[in-house]
Amino acid sequence: MKTNALLACFFFSAVLFAITTAEIVLDTDGDPLKNGGNYSLSTNYTIGGKQIIGAFIEHPNGSWSLAVVAKSYVKGWPTKIASPCPTQNITTYSPLWISFCKVPTRRSENLLWTVTPYPVGEAVMVGEPLSGCFFIKPFSSAKLHQYKLVFFYEHGKCGHVVLKTDSHGNYRLVVTQDETEQPLVLVFHKETSDEVVASDISMVV
Ligand SMILES: *[C@@H]1O[C@H](CO)[C@@H](O)[C@H](O)[C@H]1NC(C)=O
Ligand SMILES: *[C@@H]1O[C@H](CO)[C@@H](O)[C@H](O)[C@H]1NC(C)=O
Ligand SMILES: *[C@@H]1O[C@H](CO)[C@@H](O)[C@H](O)[C@H]1NC(C)=O
Ligand SMILES: *[C@@H]1O[C@H](CO)[C@@H](O)[C@H](O)[C@H]1NC(C)=O
Repeated sequence: MKTNALLACFFFSAVLFAITTAEIVLDTDGDPLKNGGNYSLSTNYTIGGKQIIGAFIEHPNGSWSLAVVAKSYVKGWPTKIASPCPTQNITTYSPLWISFCKVPTRRSENLLWTVTPYPVGEAVMVGEPLSGCFFIKPFSSAKLHQYKLVFFYEHGKCGHVVLKTDSHGNYRLVVTQDETEQPLVLVFHKETSDEVVASDISMVV
């Protein structure tokens, strides 16, 4: 699964590279995003100001999954952004693996973000089987340092990440193929501490 996803991502980035030039992705200090660096992700505060964290979602069968959500008035979780490409600075054409650095209260081997079926689209979840890779794309060339996330499925489809409210009132990150839906606009802050504040964890039953 992981190998297929990686091959698909290399294929897509090769196709994309061939037609346009890659732009270096910048953090909120204006520095290039480092391959393997830790960042906290947030929506631009001028348009809502939510931080990207995880929330446990209970399934009807009693098992739990960790969903990626946007939440106000919390600290964003340290998030590692890494490309399998041998690049130092991440560009808008680097296939990416995004993962939380740590999850409070639970130990998990696999904190990678992936995308799985969800009633209102395809939800960004943590630790499920990897099914593709992300790209960071400029949100608007007129607005510097603001980006959207695009997900490429290993079978070739792609979509952009938007916010949708679920039945528990969480703002879930969801992938849509509907071009008319407003993308989630993100900025990347350098993260030096790897602490996840336990009170940030939201349990949804
Ligand atoms: C947020 O958006 C405003 C307006 O587009 C922009 O001027 C500002 O630089 C952005 N802030 C960050 C942290 O990117
Ligand atoms: C419980 O349901 C979820 C979502 O439908 C599913 O992913 C998971 O595998 C199920 N767990 C068990 C133990 O059946
Ligand atoms: C990455 O960015 C840094 C800082 O702008 C720059 O000094 C360096 O040359 C870049 N590396 C590559 C391989 O482009
Ligand atoms: C990012 O966080 C991880 C896990 O907390 C830590 O092991 C790693 O050293 C950090 N990486 C950088 C480049 O700071």
